[in-house]
Amino acid sequence: MNIQSQNINLAEAKCDLLVINQFEGVKKPGGGTAAVDRALDGLIQKLTREEKFKAKFGETLIFHTHGKIPAKKVMILGLGERQGFNVESIRKLGGITIQKARDLKAKSVVTILHGPGTGRLDPTFCSRALTEGVTLANYRFLKYKKEEAKKVGKVDLQEFTIAEISRSKIRKIQRGIELGTAESRGVMYARDLVNEPAMHMLPKDLVERAKEISKGKSNIKLKIFNREQLEKMNAWGILGVAMGSVNEPYMIHLKYTPKKGKPKKRVALVGKGLTFDSGGLNIKTGNGMSEMKIDMAGAASVLGVFHALDALQPKVEVHAIIGACENMPSGSAVRPGDIITSMSGKTIEINNTDAEGRVTMADTLHYANKQKPDQIIDLATLTSAVIVALGSDITGIMGNDQKMINKLSDISKLTGEKLWQLPLDKDYAKRIKGKVGDVNNIGGGRTGGAIFAGLFLQEFIGKTPWVHMDIAATAYAEKPMNEYTPIGGTGVGVRLLLHYLDQV
Ligand code: BES
Ligand code: ZN
Ligand code: ZN
Repeated sequence: MNIQSQNINLAEAKCDLLVINQFEGVKKPGGGTAAVDRALDGLIQKLTREEKFKAKFGETLIFHTHGKIPAKKVMILGLGERQGFNVESIRKLGGITIQKARDLKAKSVVTILHGPGTGRLDPTFCSRALTEGVTLANYRFLKYKKEEAKKVGKVDLQEFTIAEISRSKIRKIQRGIELGTAESRGVMYARDLVNEPAMHMLPKDLVERAKEISKGKSNIKLKIFNREQLEKMNAWGILGVAMGSVNEPYMIHLKYTPKKGKPKKRVALVGKGLTFDSGGLNIKTGNGMSEMKIDMAGAASVLGVFHALDALQPKVEVHAIIGACENMPSGSAVRPGDIITSMSGKTIEINNTDAEGRVTMADTLHYANKQKPDQIIDLATLTSAVIVALGSDITGIMGNDQKMINKLSDISKLTGEKLWQLPLDKDYAKRIKGKVGDVNNIGGGRTGGAIFAGLFLQEFIGKTPWVHMDIAATAYAEKPMNEYTPIGGTGVGVRLLLHYLDQV
């Protein structure tokens, strides 16, 4: 699909579907919608009255033009109430447009840009959000559905055009399209990695993706640590978890430096990279194991961010650190009761081999901390407890720096990636002490599991400002999560972090 902004009059646009809009409670259409209404001799006002179109958010009214204007069909899109209308609304409207275009088998769409008119939002912001909504809603993972993939070029939407008549606005809109495209590509990169079956997304495949991202880019450096090097570093968190698998573990370290000027800050992003989590000897049930190819979603999102860094050029130094390994049961697997010594020197009592993510992250967080960053942010599909606590659509956020948490929460309201803070309670911290080792990897048992996992991670980050996001629920959508997030890997956190890096 090609997205562009063109100097065209809506009423004269030639396309399969023309999209115009209306706020709720508005008696007479204004702006572009009014222009189309005039060209149609007042048909829009007549139809909206007859059909009792209220312009509620996402409500649509679609009709044939019968040749009165060059567009074959018109869709009036309800914007809802003006109050509360923001860039996330625009993203959702983009998603609705894609769904309708698909139903109508439209190959070309021309649309008004929602937001800058009566919504009074910045045109670049609006077109960036619309581009994201449209691109992300249009995403499908068809790598293993070859016949369907072939059809895409023939029947799917090809041309998506934002109509505008002011030349200076077109430039701003075009910039928004560029930013939105780069950002969406990062999200889709992460989605692709998550959707890939574990047999094709082994630890070495994550390494290959990191190589692909850094290739030919002078400002992105890559370091890979293999088993031998991990042994030299005493990275027994990663090595211990990988003991049961025939697939070699790795640690990946990417570093992005801005092309111009001194970096404003240094931020380390750490992603959980379990390419498959069977549970190990504490093996999962059939149901519990079925989606565990997604256990590298934290790593996928961090790589998704890196994929977009080159195009977005934030003025901060960014590190990506990933422990890539597989949690498998076998004669050589780590056992319940085993004690491993992590890279930091702290010993970890493995009370349950299924709480493996935090054990690998003991090493990656420690390594991240040794890079002396100003901030550390980690993303991990860490606990089923966070799914119980917050449900399918909300990421659990916790950490030792309230300012960072507040900032991420504010940004998340605009990116639509919902967050809710959980407390790293000091009294709870006692429960992660080990009987024989320094710390144990399950904490207080079944209840409060997301917090105990967070408290465990905190043991390995020292005093560095740090935020942990438990994306166990939000990394994968069992049913469409919203208008632009279809079933499958979601790429959660990519847009959030890209916006954060831009503002930090
Ligand atoms: N990878 C899982 C968490 C998970 C569950 C992610 C469901 C996505 C969907 C993690 O390694 C795990 O198994 N955690 C255990 C910890 C427990 C044994 C203390 C859990 O949450 O059940
Ligand atoms: Zn597990
Ligand atoms: Zn896991």
